[in-house]
Amino acid sequence: AAIASRTQAIVARLKPLEGPLLPILHDIQSEFGHVPQASLPVIAQELNLSRAEVHGVVSFYHDFREAPAGRHVIRLCRSEACQSMGGDALADRLLGLLGLDWHETSADGAVTVEPIYCLGLCATAPAAMLDGELIGRIDQETVADLARAVRA
Ligand code: FES
Repeated sequence: AAIASRTQAIVARLKPLEGPLLPILHDIQSEFGHVPQASLPVIAQELNLSRAEVHGVVSFYHDFREAPAGRHVIRLCRSEACQSMGGDALADRLLGLLGLDWHETSADGAVTVEPIYCLGLCATAPAAMLDGELIGRIDQETVADLARAVRA
């Protein structure tokens, strides 16, 4: 009920916008840390959409999380400068070490890994971010450190 009424308040505030769905979803995610299932019917009803349409938008945009993130969030840059500096292999290595796929959260809730498209650290590619802290020039060693840090 709390989720529904908080969702309602956000929808009421943003509904007058033209194309209100994305702003509403962004606000809901910053309120709850993800877009809760319980928000979907409220949004659908208020915007005259079907629940499936709202869900379709949530799952289309990778910015939106459908479940709470882990205690730690690692973001790996997947844009060109980082890719050309070996970012893909490092990403594979990290995902392998953690046993996760993109957007996945470990079963113990410790960590979520997400792609991001340019962190503004292209000069020190490949770049990553751990819990909001930028890390440049990641290499095999950094990746192993990251995997250890989130498990500690
Ligand atoms: Fe990775 Fe810019 S391309 S930080």
